[in-house]
Amino acid sequence: MKLVGFVPTALAVFAMFASVLGVELDITSATSIGKASALVAQGLMDYYTGNNSGNSPGMFSPPYYWWEAGVAWGTMLDYGFYNNNDTYNSLVHSSLLYQSGDYWNYMTFNQTSTEGNDDQAFWGISAMQAAEKNFTAPGKGWPKTWLYFAQATWNTMAARWDDKNCGGGLRWQIYTWNAGYDYKNMVSNGCLFHLAARLARFTENSTFVDWSEKIWDWAVSVKFIGPPINGSHDLRVIDGAPIAGNCTTLHPYEWTYNQGLMMAGCAYLYNYTGDAKWLNRLEDLWGRAQVFFSNGIMYEAACMPLNGGTVRCNNDQRCFKGIFSRFLGLTMLMVPQMYDEIMPFIKTSAEAAAQSCSGGTDGHTCGLDWTVHKWDGYYGLGEQICALDTFNTLLISSKPAAYTARELYGPPTTDSSTNDNNNGTNSVYGYGNAGLNSSTVTAQVLNIDTADKAGAGILTAVVVIFMICGSAWLIL
Ligand SMILES: *[C@@H]1O[C@H](CO)[C@@H](O)[C@H](O)[C@H]1NC(C)=O
Ligand SMILES: *[C@@H]1O[C@H](CO)[C@@H](O)[C@H](O)[C@H]1NC(C)=O
Ligand SMILES: *[C@@H]1O[C@H](CO)[C@@H](O)[C@H](O)[C@H]1NC(C)=O
Ligand SMILES: *[C@@H]1O[C@H](CO)[C@@H](O)[C@H](O)[C@H]1NC(C)=O
Ligand SMILES: *[C@@H]1O[C@H](CO)[C@@H](O)[C@H](O)[C@H]1NC(C)=O
Ligand SMILES: *[C@@H]1O[C@H](CO)[C@@H](O)[C@H](O)[C@H]1NC(C)=O
Ligand SMILES: *[C@@H]1O[C@H](CO)[C@@H](O)[C@H](O)[C@H]1NC(C)=O
Ligand SMILES: *[C@@H]1O[C@H](CO)[C@@H](O)[C@H](O)[C@H]1NC(C)=O
Ligand SMILES: *[C@@H]1O[C@H](CO)[C@@H](O)[C@H](O)[C@H]1NC(C)=O
Ligand SMILES: *[C@@H]1O[C@H](CO)[C@@H](O)[C@H](O)[C@H]1NC(C)=O
Repeated sequence: MKLVGFVPTALAVFAMFASVLGVELDITSATSIGKASALVAQGLMDYYTGNNSGNSPGMFSPPYYWWEAGVAWGTMLDYGFYNNNDTYNSLVHSSLLYQSGDYWNYMTFNQTSTEGNDDQAFWGISAMQAAEKNFTAPGKGWPKTWLYFAQATWNTMAARWDDKNCGGGLRWQIYTWNAGYDYKNMVSNGCLFHLAARLARFTENSTFVDWSEKIWDWAVSVKFIGPPINGSHDLRVIDGAPIAGNCTTLHPYEWTYNQGLMMAGCAYLYNYTGDAKWLNRLEDLWGRAQVFFSNGIMYEAACMPLNGGTVRCNNDQRCFKGIFSRFLGLTMLMVPQMYDEIMPFIKTSAEAAAQSCSGGTDGHTCGLDWTVHKWDGYYGLGEQICALDTFNTLLISSKPAAYTARELYGPPTTDSSTNDNNNGTNSVYGYGNAGLNSSTVTAQVLNIDTADKAGAGILTAVVVIFMICGSAWLIL
């Protein structure tokens, strides 16, 4: 993703339409959750313009970047799955395919001026979700399973692992010309970790466990994770650091989605390996995650000061709570003993979110700050994503947890025509070389036009401003 500065879009004019009730939500009733979710889903899809003539299928309206579309389709996939409602499934399906790029690894030619490792990963994570939920197979003319897309994404990201700076880690950006190429961050590395953990459990391929260890250890070594700052069970995940200075100038901002990426990753690894260290890490991450709740209500603490402070969340940041909710759901599925600890927070958050969904001309547009128990005047794709993901998470127990390749395809065989084993080996499932065309690991086009260069220059300036202003308000 790119940094776009802060785009507060509160429109006072809409306030006159706000009702204080919000969408009706009885969290104990699946029917009620379904009804509330349908309204919020429709609101989310109001931002979908990819089906207008001349537009790119799968894309939402500007200013929402490509990465957020990848997140939104994951939200919509869960909406259909948990509510047994296939209304949007074909659109989710065609979007996940259309944007997958020439090598089905979400290196999408049109996105060379916006696509970072994290952007690519969020699409890959939605493909992983499709695999785990047995979503309608890609179909004729495409790789046989969604696993291909997820593994191809992971393979190309892992190939960018950079030992030359900071002792390892992914850079934020893929392309040299995008601002953030000189920065290493937790979202990119957290995505690599998260996807590795899910691929490990899904494919039974131990390479992914080894990589999970390596990414975790590196993140700890550069202090992107921990050390505990408030008691022993308090593992924080920070934003990242510039490569200049060998990643020692830490940018200590904490985001819900980073905490969620790491929590769910640990949960998958504990589920798959049974190794208690992943459970301990998960519990410590959850200990720190308390900073993202106020009276049990989730909020984006780094850019949303409570008690009347100015909200500074940009368009990207305004969807993070949704991603966090979804990953808390996965955490509970993978580590059922944490259900009783986490679910109460989802419930209070969902109820407050529903109260916030009382704005706009339709009367059920969702807001950003749920702690105010009414619509706060903000609206957008991120606000819809956050509410819907939180509602979806209420329903996780109603459906099978994430499937594995073994459950879906049967025992591994050497016959690549009957399942998706790694072509000839019979111990694991998967596609070892998926996506690894050298031209997609780094860049498809090296000569960018002047307009893009100018754009990148402006972005660099924005990053610098962000870093300077940031420290004043982002430290928790
Ligand atoms: C299915 O979803 C659509 C779109 O959200 C909604 O209009 C419809 O009422 C839903 N159907 C059921 C049975 O909930
Ligand atoms: C595009 O999809 C949205 C969401 O499903 C729908 O509301 C809209 O009518 C569609 N537009 C066209 C041109 O098909
Ligand atoms: C890429 O951009 C072209 C031109 O705008 C558009 O026609 C095409 O659908 C886009 N492809 C993808 C995969 O976004
Ligand atoms: C850079 O940081 C890494 C990781 O902390 C460390 O292993 C390496 O020795 C450092 N290099 C220099 C030149 O300081
Ligand atoms: C430290 O933890 C305690 C107990 O969980 C909490 O009340 C306090 O606010 C925390 N302090 C900081 C600085 O996070
Ligand atoms: C792993 O996840 C499955 C699915 O939710 C669950 O049934 C099982 O108990 C989990 N295993 C462990 C060790 O937590
Ligand atoms: C997965 O979906 C396919 C196609 O709909 C179906 O035949 C199969 O039974 C499903 N697998 C499981 C484990 O539900
Ligand atoms: C299997 O491997 C052979 C030899 O490396 C290769 O030619 C073939 O394309 C592979 N098939 C699949 C389905 O990956
Ligand atoms: C395991 O996954 C890795 C990463 O995708 C791949 O390189 C390797 O070939 C896989 N191993 C097997 C036995 O398929
Ligand atoms: C990578 O893709 C390019 C362009 O499609 C193709 O010419 C080249 O042969 C591919 N390389 C590999 C190793 O598959």
